[in-house]
Amino acid sequence: MSDLDAFITGLPKAELHLHIEGSLEPEQMFEFARRNGVEIPFGSVEEVRAAYEFSNLQDFLDIYYAGASVLQTEEDFRDMAMAYFDRAAADGVVHAEIFFDPQTHTHRGIPFGVAANGLLAGMAEAEAKHGLTSKLILCFLRHLDEEDAFRTLEQAHPWIEQITGVGLDSSEIGHPPSKFERVFAAAAAMGLKRVAHAGEEGPPEYVHEALDLLHIDRLDHGNRSLEDPALVTKLARSGMTLTVCPLSNVKLCNVASIEVHPIDEMLRKGLRATVNSDDPAYFGGYVGENYRAIARGRGLGRDEVVTLARNSFLGSFLPDEAVTAHLERLDAYVEAN
Ligand code: ADE
Ligand code: ZN
Repeated sequence: MSDLDAFITGLPKAELHLHIEGSLEPEQMFEFARRNGVEIPFGSVEEVRAAYEFSNLQDFLDIYYAGASVLQTEEDFRDMAMAYFDRAAADGVVHAEIFFDPQTHTHRGIPFGVAANGLLAGMAEAEAKHGLTSKLILCFLRHLDEEDAFRTLEQAHPWIEQITGVGLDSSEIGHPPSKFERVFAAAAAMGLKRVAHAGEEGPPEYVHEALDLLHIDRLDHGNRSLEDPALVTKLARSGMTLTVCPLSNVKLCNVASIEVHPIDEMLRKGLRATVNSDDPAYFGGYVGENYRAIARGRGLGRDEVVTLARNSFLGSFLPDEAVTAHLERLDAYVEAN
């Protein structure tokens, strides 16, 4: 391991873009399938991993939703979350804001509360075990309709105090943010933060809509914003955080290779970019590996790596005092290493 690799692993960081269902490793998929008596169309862990070759977002989503079918009980959701938090803690993650997709579960008859209670139990356990704090973000599946999203927001009511915000994910092209303008307005009225995937595969216009119609507090991916200089200026001036996911971008063929990833271009243009893992079980690496791969691929120096980690705290939904405390600890680490 290079000096920079070791420095990255110990660097305190927040993860802001992680789909918890995307942290389900094939081994755990088999374990849950067995204990729940669920059939999966794979004979072995190796066969599952071999199927993880994607040429676009939809290719991945098809297999990702199929994989989620093994999640049946609160215990499954808790165990999956704990497996993620154990790995995140080993990668220097001290705070995580995790997404979940309730509709993926309610549509197969798993009540909202099974997912929510299981994940919240895992989050409490991670704080007790690792001192790793976390927040929960409810994502609406954008390929479903507005009514379904409203129904999901209603189902969330009993847990609303434990949910920090709403997000928008799934198939981007053909499902612009405007489709969810009223749902996001309702979420805002409930005091929830708002984030949205935009500009991952979709055009810069979708990023404009996420800003102007959904009034997002944070932009997930946002890569294609770079095609629109006026949009870049708008994002930079407003201090909008972009949750960039380098290995995901390569695996889903949105970026040709890690060597041509635009993370440093984003930083040079004044964008508050962060590094995250998206769906680490499917894309070949958790957040530490994303930092190490992008640092290696783009020849980033320590300063750029530190900026990315600083941005992760600045872009979090933690209160100001907590952000300050995390930045002080980060500075102390940089000083000492
Ligand atoms: N759901 C899980 N991962 C996603 C991604 N990268 N884009 C959109 N929806 C997702
Ligand atoms: Zn994502």
